[in-house]
Amino acid sequence: IRRITVPQIVARKGGDPIVSLTSYHAHTAAIVDKYADFILVGDSLGMVMHGMESTLGVSLDLMIMHGKAVVRGTQKALIVVDMPFGTYEESPAMAFRNAARIMKETGCGAVKLEGGARMAETIRFLTERGIPVMAHIGLTPQSSHVIGGFKTQGRDQDSWPLHEVDAKAVTEAGAFAIVLEGMVEPLAAKITKQIGIPTIGIGASADCDGQILVLEDMLGLNEWTPKFVKTYGNLGPAIENAVSDYAEDVKSRNFPGPDQVYR
Ligand code: KIV
Ligand code: NA
Repeated sequence: IRRITVPQIVARKGGDPIVSLTSYHAHTAAIVDKYADFILVGDSLGMVMHGMESTLGVSLDLMIMHGKAVVRGTQKALIVVDMPFGTYEESPAMAFRNAARIMKETGCGAVKLEGGARMAETIRFLTERGIPVMAHIGLTPQSSHVIGGFKTQGRDQDSWPLHEVDAKAVTEAGAFAIVLEGMVEPLAAKITKQIGIPTIGIGASADCDGQILVLEDMLGLNEWTPKFVKTYGNLGPAIENAVSDYAEDVKSRNFPGPDQVYR
């Protein structure tokens, strides 16, 4: 395998922080590939790329389409593809069938699914059959209707043991890493110390073994950015300037100019 491997990610536990971003298409993935250890084709693409109100409507085919594009556009990073809502929760066998489709059709190296202790049996089933699984606990957007929105987890310290049990359960089931999303900082730091696999934080803690952000969020391309996002670019206004300059040029017949026509 020429790419960064799952065991190489696992070996980073407690070491150099793991760098990760989401990407959904070939062009941005090629840029991210130069710097990221793994790239997540997240189901957030439903909202970010397709204007959906949540991730619930994302289909397996859509994940596979974007997963293929990202694999094609990259060479170095491990590519992880999200399993969308409704494609893995019902049974380990169903999860295997759909995860295998994702792996076969995209060429990615691992899948990610949401849920802690309740998904442990499925994580074990997949891992034992050749499919590396990244777990995802804390704020799990696919459960937003049960949680009652996108709420930071662990604000009430009484809830900490539940999250700690989730983290231990997925670790024991064979997950190679775990995303901690939307979780109060001390809880994410505590879980990171307690388990033997890398934790990847998003709205979590600098103590996590790695960090991930949605690329469009950190580039300033989304209309709204949550508190946990640091914006490293301001592409929204940059794109708007380019589009409005183009519109002006077309209207004033300044585009195409002498250099852009075949004589
Ligand atoms: O879908 C996604 O982008 C994710 C990350 C936020 C972890 O699951
Ligand atoms: Na996701």
